[in-house]
Amino acid sequence: MELDETRGNYMKLSKGLNRLLTVLYLRRKRVEWSGEVPDIDMRRPPKFDLTGSGRLVLGSGVKIFTRLGHSLFQVSDGAVITIGDRAVLNSVHWIHAEKEITIGPHALVGPGVSIIDSDMHPKWPGDNRAPQPVGLGWNCWIGMGSSILPGIEIGDHSIVGASSVVTKSISPKTMVAGNPARILRSFECPDNWIREHCTGE
Ligand SMILES: CC(C)(COP(=O)(O)OP(=O)(O)OC[C@H]1O[C@@H](n2cnc3c(N)ncnc32)[C@H](O)[C@@H]1OP(=O)(O)O)[C@@H](O)C(=O)NCCC(=O)NCCS
Repeated sequence: MELDETRGNYMKLSKGLNRLLTVLYLRRKRVEWSGEVPDIDMRRPPKFDLTGSGRLVLGSGVKIFTRLGHSLFQVSDGAVITIGDRAVLNSVHWIHAEKEITIGPHALVGPGVSIIDSDMHPKWPGDNRAPQPVGLGWNCWIGMGSSILPGIEIGDHSIVGASSVVTKSISPKTMVAGNPARILRSFECPDNWIREHCTGE
């Protein structure tokens, strides 16, 4: 057998085994998915945790990398976190949904990012602001270490610079950065453009 053929067979076998282990892992964690099995490297701990009795729903071919750190998805009873087709979550720190958090298809969410739809604690007696859904658009890119706060909508293709705290919703095709995040510029791209991504492998 040619070396290339052997290598090809090995790759196919190892991908198949990884897919099988992924399916078992996701079922054990009660994660739902549609279409292509999500891409999670089962050879490497840590992976991620799902706590609470709400739903985590992954689209087709979602990638979840956890090489740079563990990810925690907390979903309260009746709440849902939805990750769009082919979105990439690279060592996201924490996603906490008491109502609804939606991450659009092809979104890139970087290491150490936190996304919450509830403040979690009352500011003072009698303060009981309801959770406010969060939505990240198609092909948006959230830079490492950023925080996305309750009620925020991030438009399609938009970019959040590293270590930003996003306190106001962002229009499509807009780049913001800082604490609090301010608009740096808007830009043009075809509506169907998909950003390339690199995992640093
Ligand atoms: C957002 C980003 C892509 C913008 O890059 P850029 O277009 O080259 O931006 P510039 O360096 O020209 O910066 C423009 C201005 O925004 C400021 N700025 C850029 N990124 C910033 C950030 N993350 N926080 C605060 N200010 C920032 C710059 O200081 C500069 O300000 P000035 O005009 O007063 O000098 C880049 O700064 C960034 O954050 N990259 C990291 C992305 C990341 O986290 N990747 C890891 C995997 S997700």
